[in-house]
Amino acid sequence: MIRDKITRRNFVVSLMKTGVILPIIGKGGMERRLGQGRTKLPLIMTSKTNPAVKEQITATAWEVLQKGGTPMDAAEKATNVSEIDPRDPTVGYGGDPNEEGFLQLDASAMDGSDHNNAGAVAALENIKTPCSVARLVMERTDHLMLVGKGALQFAKMHGFKEENLLTEEARRHWVEWKENLSNRDYYISPRKKHKLEEGGTINVLVLDEKGDIAGVTSTVGHHFKIVGRVGDSPIIGAGLYVDNDVGAAGATGHGAEAIKVCASFLAVEKMREGYSPQSACRYVCQRVIDRHGGKPLFGLKIVALTKNGDYGCCSIRGKIHKETGKVIGLGFSVHDANGHRTEAGEAILPPMTEEERKSIPWR
Ligand code: GLY
Repeated sequence: MIRDKITRRNFVVSLMKTGVILPIIGKGGMERRLGQGRTKLPLIMTSKTNPAVKEQITATAWEVLQKGGTPMDAAEKATNVSEIDPRDPTVGYGGDPNEEGFLQLDASAMDGSDHNNAGAVAALENIKTPCSVARLVMERTDHLMLVGKGALQFAKMHGFKEENLLTEEARRHWVEWKENLSNRDYYISPRKKHKLEEGGTINVLVLDEKGDIAGVTSTVGHHFKIVGRVGDSPIIGAGLYVDNDVGAAGATGHGAEAIKVCASFLAVEKMREGYSPQSACRYVCQRVIDRHGGKPLFGLKIVALTKNGDYGCCSIRGKIHKETGKVIGLGFSVHDANGHRTEAGEAILPPMTEEERKSIPWR
């Protein structure tokens, strides 16, 4: 039986390495569609569609590869773009703080070419580029994750400077949130309606011409989260997973749910079984939806690619296409030999209704 499994696994992996597509293997009923897309290597993929930074993110990774950098160099430098850009309230500097008004950042890095080695930091304060610290945890320690004070000490030991990460805009956003928390406290709100958004994050997955893969995930976590809260982003297997024999996946959105199903690991394991990235992402999303009786009151998006350049993306909740009125995915960006592009991806459910939003306890 064990021998059987090993043989089967090796067979699938060798098919993926040679680029043969997957319909041959698997149990009846499993979907075997091609991915959302397929491209020639190298391939950069990111969860980000934010107009301000998305092209800069993928272009940075592309340039690093063109100059002979590794997939890990490319994933790190691309993520740094988003981390240091204050216009993105969900990643790094300029992000929204926790409930006490300061930022605690989470990040992870995983390098397929280094035996799928991994590193992570959680609840890291005052450092603009947490993913670079996560990479150093991977490369310069025998540990996997450093948190809080220890992570900060480690970063400083490696020459990172402590900086104030709270921008004026994020501070105002936080004060406004506090003032709107309750109508039975002593804060007085200026009565401006503010839209609270789901926790945001960046995943960057990089596949080079040799088929080596690296991934990075970085986030501020949930806006106004409880001090000390850690999400999925620094958890290997939840917010990020890379297997150099198969592919990589990353998650953004409601981190607790990504942790509960080991979302990124699950997506990669499904691709190992023979699912396309698109089907693997959909499988993970459906699994989460089913855990919530078909009506999850949160968002989650999975991006994935295989070693041979197939890629896909699925979200639990999508958005409505302005012209067609159809539900479409929340989007992702890729960069390959044809340059940068943003694609919609797929979504399983429509956006939450106003009634559903109101029923979320923490809103
Ligand atoms: N996915 C980001 C977080 O929940 O922390």
